[in-house]
Amino acid sequence: MMIFGHAYLARALLACIIGICFSVTDVAHGQSAGTPDPTDAGKAIFKRANCMGCHKWHGNGGGGYGGDALSLRKTELTRELIIETIGCGRPGTGMPFFLRGAYDTIKCYGALQADMAGNMPPEAGSFLRGNDIEAVADYVLAHIKGRSEPTYAECIGFFSQESRACNVYKTDSAASPENKPKER
Ligand code: HEC
Repeated sequence: MMIFGHAYLARALLACIIGICFSVTDVAHGQSAGTPDPTDAGKAIFKRANCMGCHKWHGNGGGGYGGDALSLRKTELTRELIIETIGCGRPGTGMPFFLRGAYDTIKCYGALQADMAGNMPPEAGSFLRGNDIEAVADYVLAHIKGRSEPTYAECIGFFSQESRACNVYKTDSAASPENKPKER
């Protein structure tokens, strides 16, 4: 028991240290300058294409205007299938298609719009180019898929700065009522 306790504490401390490193490097490099993480471009697309509007910054999804977005943390899709899902959306659900020409000049799941009857997925608010779709898929693979519960360090890493939205993930001060999520 004690051994587990210590291991847990060590992990929590490590997470804090990494969290601080994240915010320090991000401040030092700014948002656009050559930041070291190769998936930063994908993260920017995750924000700009509003994946986070439905899947949330942490990817766990939940109820929203697009219906219940599945958890990208728990997804079992391969890179290829993630790319296909982003480009073609998911028929019969709120997951929009992001590839210009999908179901029109480009077949999706072997089908064009005429074959889809009432099953067309919604069109995304703005289209993404093929390499942007790959970039956001690589971001999901590197930072979201397979992760367990969202942490404070991840949250700060996502927003690239201290964000009030991250306070709810602070474990050491979670007891303080100020940091509890507001009732809705
Ligand atoms: C309008 C809301 C909405 C937006 C915007 C959105 N999604 Fe989704 N997404 C969904 C919904 C709803 C599902 C669940 C579909 C289902 O029930 O099968 C989903 C499913 C997925 C899946 C499949 C997960 C699995 O395990 O089957 C992936 C991958 C995905 N979305 C990635 C993205 C990415 C990346 C973006 C941004 C480029 C994005 N989504 C934007 C609503 C959205």
